Amino acid sequence: MASNTILFVTSEVYPLIKTGGLADVAGSLPAALKAQRQDVRIIMPAYRGAMRKAEKLGFASFRMEGVPETVRLLEGRLPGTSVRLLLVDSPAHFDRPGGPYMDPDGHDWADNAERFALFARAVTAVALNKAELDWQPDIVHCNDWQSGLVPALLAPYPKRLSSVFTVHNLAYHGFFEAAKFQSLKLPSYLWGVDGLEFHGGLSFIKGGLVFADMISTVSPTYAEEIRTPHFGHGLDGLLNHRAERLTGILNGVDYKQWNPAKDPHLKHHYDIHHLAGKARNKQQLQTQFGLPQRTSPPLLGLVGRLVEQKGIDLVLSIIPQLVRHDVQLVILGSGDKRFQAELQQAAKLHPGHIAVHIGFSETLAHRIEGGADMFLMPSRFEPCGLNQIYSLRYGTVPIVRRTGGLADTVVDAHDETIAQKRATGFVFDHAAHDDLWRATQRAISVFRGQPKIWQQLIATGMRQDFSWKQSAKHYLELYQTALEKRGG
Ligand code: ADP
Ligand code: GLC
Repeated sequence: MASNTILFVTSEVYPLIKTGGLADVAGSLPAALKAQRQDVRIIMPAYRGAMRKAEKLGFASFRMEGVPETVRLLEGRLPGTSVRLLLVDSPAHFDRPGGPYMDPDGHDWADNAERFALFARAVTAVALNKAELDWQPDIVHCNDWQSGLVPALLAPYPKRLSSVFTVHNLAYHGFFEAAKFQSLKLPSYLWGVDGLEFHGGLSFIKGGLVFADMISTVSPTYAEEIRTPHFGHGLDGLLNHRAERLTGILNGVDYKQWNPAKDPHLKHHYDIHHLAGKARNKQQLQTQFGLPQRTSPPLLGLVGRLVEQKGIDLVLSIIPQLVRHDVQLVILGSGDKRFQAELQQAAKLHPGHIAVHIGFSETLAHRIEGGADMFLMPSRFEPCGLNQIYSLRYGTVPIVRRTGGLADTVVDAHDETIAQKRATGFVFDHAAHDDLWRATQRAISVFRGQPKIWQQLIATGMRQDFSWKQSAKHYLELYQTALEKRGG
């Protein structure tokens, strides 16, 4: 495969800044592309938190048309890799406390449109070699709405390069009032329903969906689902119109970060042949979460954003049954205030069975994977999902809904798949209390009554290989197609 020069555009990257799976992907896919001999650089806003963690930053300054301030471009390497990193430094937009999209109180930054429009303009300048780097990519790979304006701004330059837009989550549009279109001084050719207009407002994600040479999403099943009204968030018509340019590539995971045999966050290491460490991690997890140290109750884990997407209401609905069946549950997450409060209330009511930690903790996330027996992921939709894949490697049997990447990575345990030694978890169909509870009950009954089959599920899961190599090759094919179809 020919070598490409790739500018990988992202609004978060592990280990510099992370709110969810996009950071994990941006932290590992570029290195996998580099291993395929591609010249790849990551570009991201210079958030305050990220600047502190980035290593050895040199800088260049450049001026952009229509932007009064000079924007600095900081250059370094992504820690732990040899991948080059560019940070777009505009202190008025990015040097502040809080998260990449929200203030410390959890409200969206009021100037998100301005922040990510500035970011997109800087990316466009770099992509067109107007940023004094003396480097010209032939592929600009954008991710989610925060970089959605980039393919739109690059549209007038089809001969220079190709753009690829990856949808990690179609639910987040980057939607702003129409007046922003004027105040951001976006070129007039971008307005209209064939451009960035969406129901009378301004949609950043449409920039990617309308103008990118190729569109991808992070699992084959989600690529199909988003073409239907149920999963399309009003964009299914557009996606059907561009169906020939849409494909699904399953995310890989970084087994250097997620390996129970070496994980620095775990007190006790283990592998497929030596599982004793996992039992000890279970005890440690129980202690850390203030649950009774008992071996007999199955211990369920959940790590994630506490939002509607993740089916948190369904989890809340089965808590009385979990308690009645003497099952323990540990939850780590943050998100909607309502879910946070209801989960904390449940923990108060059932201190022997339910424990909740509200917040973001890389260490606890790893310890839950390392110590729990099962992992709950009853998502209403899930573009890919990474935690179920981490769970497989950690021998933590996933209980998931059959949607998106969950459907593509977990094999339901029933007579046939067990006999074929293919089963890796428990899968259910409908986002409803009864369905989730039935799947959980099936898991509990195998855990308690069929230890040999349980061991087989663990072993089959731990043997699955979702490393990036294969998916990175699919991205190379996608880049090739984008180059062939550019500007069309
Ligand atoms: P999404 O991107 O929709 O949030 P994914 O499953 O793709 O879902 O990725 C979520 C990533 O964020 C995983 O690496 C998960 O461990 C991590 N994560 C989510 N919430 C937390 C949290 N509260 N603390 C630590 N890590 C978290
Ligand atoms: C999104 C999705 C998640 C996916 C992640 C990384 O946040 O919600 O399913 O795994 O992006 O692609």
